[in-house]
Amino acid sequence: MRKKLVAGNWKMNGGLASNRELLCALAPVAGVDVAVCVPYPYLAQASEALDGIALGVQDVSEFTAGPYTGEVSAAMVAEFGCGYAIVGHSERRALFREDEAQIGRKAEAALAHGVVPIVCIGETLAEREAGEVVPVVERQLAPVLEVLGREGLAKAVLAYEPVWAIGTGRSATVAQVAETHGAIRAWLANHGVAAERVKILYGGSVKADNARELFALDDVDGGLIGGASLVADEFLAICRAAAVVQSCIQ
Ligand code: 13P
Repeated sequence: MRKKLVAGNWKMNGGLASNRELLCALAPVAGVDVAVCVPYPYLAQASEALDGIALGVQDVSEFTAGPYTGEVSAAMVAEFGCGYAIVGHSERRALFREDEAQIGRKAEAALAHGVVPIVCIGETLAEREAGEVVPVVERQLAPVLEVLGREGLAKAVLAYEPVWAIGTGRSATVAQVAETHGAIRAWLANHGVAAERVKILYGGSVKADNARELFALDDVDGGLIGGASLVADEFLAICRAAAVVQSCIQ
């Protein structure tokens, strides 16, 4: 059985003083995995402050080392005990023009250093309105499978984050999430990936009051949380919602 994972994505937020408060207020939640993905400069601070909560980053270089100004390698983040690296977040795809193959190589670089990639996929509003949700996520997954191979992809975490639900307060509905997660898992199985092993998180306006119904879906293995991960009580409430659902399926 897959254990639920709730990962916070702080995005480009935080500061030493506010992080201290937030990190101190976090505590592990029994029965579920919890992670926080912090900006690089705060890795050392977070790694020292966290106990029983995994550490992650929001991106990682596809390169190993060398003349790549501004890049941060998987080996470097692994030195700080980093367990997860988000790759291919829609903000990076849209603002930094990351493409599928590059996202696959970033995931590969992470895996090579024992860092689990959280590979983000998801459609824009225009793509949803055009009825293209499943083809879009399949188009995003195929190049990642090509780079990672079946074994590699089975070690990754996927995060379905519809772009229109991110930071808007408008989460996808339970029916929309169920349909897309089901399609993603079916695609994995059809491509020879050990689909039952792969965690598929949902992200996009997850809050304490909608987490439980989303996490209760069969193919939803937790959440990738943006804004709500910056508020300790809200984030912990989301983690507890995951724990309640997990205890019901045990
Ligand atoms: P929000 O939870 O703020 O909608 O952000 C979701 C997200 O982008 C997580 O990666």
